[in-house]
Amino acid sequence: MFCQHFVLEENMLEVDCPCVTPEAVLKASGHVDKFTDLMVKDEKTGTCYRADHLLKDFCNEKIQKDLSISAEKAAELKHVLAMLDDLSAEELGAKIKEYGITAPDTKNPLSDPYPFNLMFQTSIGPSGLSPGYMRPETAQGIFVNFKDLYYYNGNKLPFAAAQIGQAFRNEISPRQGLLRVREFTLAEIEHFVDPEYKSHPKYSEVADLEFLMFPREQQISAQSAKKIQLGEAVSKGIVNNETLGYFIGRVYLFLTRLGIDKDRLRFRQHLANEMAHYAADCWDAEIESSYGWIECVGIADRSAYDLHAHTEKSGVPLVAHEKFSEPKEVEKLVIAPVKKELGLAFKGNQKKVVEALEAMNEKEALDMKASLETKGVVEFYVCTLGENVSIKKNMVSISKEKKKEHQRTFTPSVIEPSFGIGRIIYCLYEHSFLHEAQ
Ligand code: GLY
Repeated sequence: MFCQHFVLEENMLEVDCPCVTPEAVLKASGHVDKFTDLMVKDEKTGTCYRADHLLKDFCNEKIQKDLSISAEKAAELKHVLAMLDDLSAEELGAKIKEYGITAPDTKNPLSDPYPFNLMFQTSIGPSGLSPGYMRPETAQGIFVNFKDLYYYNGNKLPFAAAQIGQAFRNEISPRQGLLRVREFTLAEIEHFVDPEYKSHPKYSEVADLEFLMFPREQQISAQSAKKIQLGEAVSKGIVNNETLGYFIGRVYLFLTRLGIDKDRLRFRQHLANEMAHYAADCWDAEIESSYGWIECVGIADRSAYDLHAHTEKSGVPLVAHEKFSEPKEVEKLVIAPVKKELGLAFKGNQKKVVEALEAMNEKEALDMKASLETKGVVEFYVCTLGENVSIKKNMVSISKEKKKEHQRTFTPSVIEPSFGIGRIIYCLYEHSFLHEAQ
């Protein structure tokens, strides 16, 4: 059904990549540094808990069981619950202290919250010198193969590639039975689109759909989800662009055609701090089950991190081209290191200094040009050397030149619908069968 509804219907490509992923790929994607949950430790026994789970359990218990709390306090706790995913480590720690929350099993004091990386680390090959990770999502396999996928699509955008496979997350405290597990089946689509043209040719097919949506503003002001027409959500900017809207609509059709009850399905926008480090916007298709509202599909606009840097660092830069019908005159920044002077000054380090100069962005280069013109010398940090070097005026020429260009080279934006297959099947069973007490 997934293949029929998405891969075949949308002419997507499909790949099947390995689970074990070299560290360089996940370092470049930001997962090594940022794919974390906040954890607290029992200060005496060392037992670990997810900080947000403890705060959530505390608030729910107080609201449901403590009849002595005032209406004001109940409203405050409900607000904390609504904002739970948006709290920083400091805010979570402050709330845990303010409410006097202790370790559930021992009542011992808890540490401050700190980030715990959710990836399972391993090493690749017999030497033990090449670190790797079990993939936390399947997306990376598509990104590192972008060049070939783009070629198979005739070097044209937009296009999409899908992958279904196992993903692994070292959850701090798995709970909710089959719904939060450390190994699970993920189906992901990466739809690559020109960031300047985020319209979608088939958008009109879904624009009239109307279903429960729960935008960020409604969550913050403690309102509930309400029925909104998808076209209206896109035209009002609640949903950022047509392509994101198109996939939200297609996911709605997929889930309801599977048999998910449309009245127990809502699309909830992530709060700002809740989003994964790579996402600029994200909507979760959440399904109501006996465990509450369960996120089953995430539809993310992955424009918040630099896909180009990601793939360049891991070997294959992710770029697309738009050929112009007529050459266009453009002003381009030209950074020309003078290798002879740099060689005399930096000897064996010359190559690293040259690479760092060439890697400057426009602002950095123009600032350097201005400083060199006024002072004749500038301190410049070379990250591969881990130190500042003195660049003199005769060592680099920075200018803007008019050039004729025959094509535009750019990094595509990516819209990513990502399906937790086990969760969908679990909710489907709950929506399809009645349970009769014996
Ligand atoms: N790529 C979707 C996720 O990591 O949840």
